[in-house]
Amino acid sequence: MRHTNMNNMSNMSAKSFALAAPAKINLFLHVTGRRDDGYHLLQSIVVFVDAGDHLTFSRHDSLFIDIQGYFADDVGDLRDNLVYKAAQALAQEYDYVPTGQISLQKNLPVASGMGGGSSDAATTLRGLCRLWGLSEEAGRLEKLAAQLGADVPACLYRRPVWMEGVGDKMMRMQDMPDMHLVLATPPVQTPTPEVFKCFARRFSGRYSPPIKHAGRRKSLQEWIADLRFYRNDLTDAAIEVSPDIRTALAAIAATPNCHIARLSGSGATCFGLYDSAGAAQAAVNKLRQEYPHWWIKATGLFKE
Ligand code: C5P
Repeated sequence: MRHTNMNNMSNMSAKSFALAAPAKINLFLHVTGRRDDGYHLLQSIVVFVDAGDHLTFSRHDSLFIDIQGYFADDVGDLRDNLVYKAAQALAQEYDYVPTGQISLQKNLPVASGMGGGSSDAATTLRGLCRLWGLSEEAGRLEKLAAQLGADVPACLYRRPVWMEGVGDKMMRMQDMPDMHLVLATPPVQTPTPEVFKCFARRFSGRYSPPIKHAGRRKSLQEWIADLRFYRNDLTDAAIEVSPDIRTALAAIAATPNCHIARLSGSGATCFGLYDSAGAAQAAVNKLRQEYPHWWIKATGLFKE
């Protein structure tokens, strides 16, 4: 267990509540251009899944953060952590002295393309608003979230979004059918800046042409058919940074009834899409036997 105490630890209250910080998955990710400042223009569908970290909030007379869970030791300096930064940013925005205990259960592998840190930050904003009795004014929290990272506003919304710009523009999507996914993360970290650097170095001179988001409601089969035409343009770069990703994609694609095997974000998490929860669980059982040291999970879409 790791912890940081900004003042003292007295006066802990028993009144507490827990919030899920769901993982995000990029069902596809196209790079459509590059801005003058070096940031890449993207198109992506981001969904949130029923797997993630958990945060518990309780009253405390100073700000106290502790981190537990399987991946707690992989979290770096707590003062660089987005939970701490989100708490400080919210306190500054609302002119509030930061208080409260935040216990982060770190279930997701760190720097793995599932936006764990961003989701933790968004959940901290929500949780502290409730704990401190602040009103969650529309727009104000989103603006704060955007300052913490490009993915954080989507994590505040935590429902499927169509993402554009450098990851900062999002359109809420019509209801999506539940999806049956398998997530598999080899035990490697693929830092996003390294993957983008590698992408830029390997760049062929042709970005993906922008695609139009139709916005209408679709069945799972229609989604699977559409997603087959799309890619994750960062895949080759991510494989160059972490060759285990190639193994993960091949292993997922080889499971029975897998429709699509793809990288999420800049990796190293890869996912498979299946028709049913049973097919996804069968794939998990097979993958766990083959790769006992990987983080592997069957999941559906996150529901509030
Ligand atoms: O958004 P994040 O801080 O994770 O980005 C890390 C790095 O990835 C950026 O500094 C940039 O080099 C690269 N990046 C990019 N285009 C994006 C997002 C990130 O080139 N849309």
